[in-house]
Amino acid sequence: MKKIFISTFLLILILNGYSQKFEQLAKTPPMGWNSWNKFGCNVSETLIMGIADAMASSGMKDVGYEYVVIDDCWQVSRDENGEIVVDKERFPHGMKYLADYIHSKGLKFGIYSCAGTKTCAGRPGGRGHEYQDARTYAKWGVDYLKYDWCNVGTQEAKSSYSTMRDALYAAGRPIVFSLCEWGSNKPWEWAKPVGHLWRTTGDINDSWNSMIGIFNQQKDLARYAGPGGWNDPDMLEVGNGKMTFEEYKTHFSLWCMLAAPLLAGNDLQVMTPETKTILLNKEIIALDQDTLGRQATCFRDNGDYQIWIKSLAGGEKAVCLLNKSDEKKSVLVDFALLCQTNQFRRGAGAPLQIENCRIRDLWEHKDLTLKETSVYIDLPPHSVKVYRFIRK
Ligand code: GLA
Repeated sequence: MKKIFISTFLLILILNGYSQKFEQLAKTPPMGWNSWNKFGCNVSETLIMGIADAMASSGMKDVGYEYVVIDDCWQVSRDENGEIVVDKERFPHGMKYLADYIHSKGLKFGIYSCAGTKTCAGRPGGRGHEYQDARTYAKWGVDYLKYDWCNVGTQEAKSSYSTMRDALYAAGRPIVFSLCEWGSNKPWEWAKPVGHLWRTTGDINDSWNSMIGIFNQQKDLARYAGPGGWNDPDMLEVGNGKMTFEEYKTHFSLWCMLAAPLLAGNDLQVMTPETKTILLNKEIIALDQDTLGRQATCFRDNGDYQIWIKSLAGGEKAVCLLNKSDEKKSVLVDFALLCQTNQFRRGAGAPLQIENCRIRDLWEHKDLTLKETSVYIDLPPHSVKVYRFIRK
């Protein structure tokens, strides 16, 4: 009896030992680049190396972008041993070579697969090959895996993703695990012990309606996000050309307020000065990367006009005024009230008051000089104002 008890206990210990993700990763939302939004299936070694070069030379690396992620279509088949086969025409030197190149730039390497039998673009999926693939990825030097949800038949989401988590853990190389099941099975409720980020919606496209539609679906999810596990409203479209400068600024600001993963989705090799102004805005990025790891909540909802607040480390906060409408708006903002409100108190020191705080406009890169504590602020259509309330 005692023996059975001890061996059951040991078995549970062993199984638990493998039932875990790599805990020390993604303490702040992952930052990097992914090929899908701009290039779709048109990926190659030349492109990925060019992107890695650009990430290092454009200033992106300096402000925190690090993962270079190849999305779908790098894989063509499996060999007689079930090993995944890389497209030799597009990646003539294979993945280890590419990983080494990316690492030599001080960056990290990410790859894509799918929990189903085939990926969304019809390439071989991971189903039934989880442990084998995880070992291959570890051997190549992969640092990040995006795992999709096409062609899954009757598979159950949590157990499918847990299998891949366990496979990655068993392979022994710390890999950020990005779940891409589009929110279909409410991953925010179960994915924290499984992966480091989980998609919350279907795919974004390069339009205001798609972007703001996705943003609208994040409102009730704030409590699920935190260091090591993030809601993922999908990759960025900034710089892809179909939204206005103002709209891209809004897109980027909202993603940073949400503590969303920041995966640029544009061609880093040919960025306009405007695109760089957005993707390299350190003060906005600092909100996303704040160590407290809070996702913003909606403080005032007047339909087209909303105020969002994100608590920051040290008792500071960010406030975002959002005009979703097609008209410009002039809104009366009570900065004294915003200063006191939504205070994250535990360990945060004395509450912020207008007298002990400096208010900084993070797109103008200037502190406000207020004559009154309530003032009218102009918001063009589809725009934001983002302020940081800083303890003096
Ligand atoms: C799904 C994902 C996308 C992308 C494509 C690739 O649609 O949600 O982000 O990875 O598959 O086929």
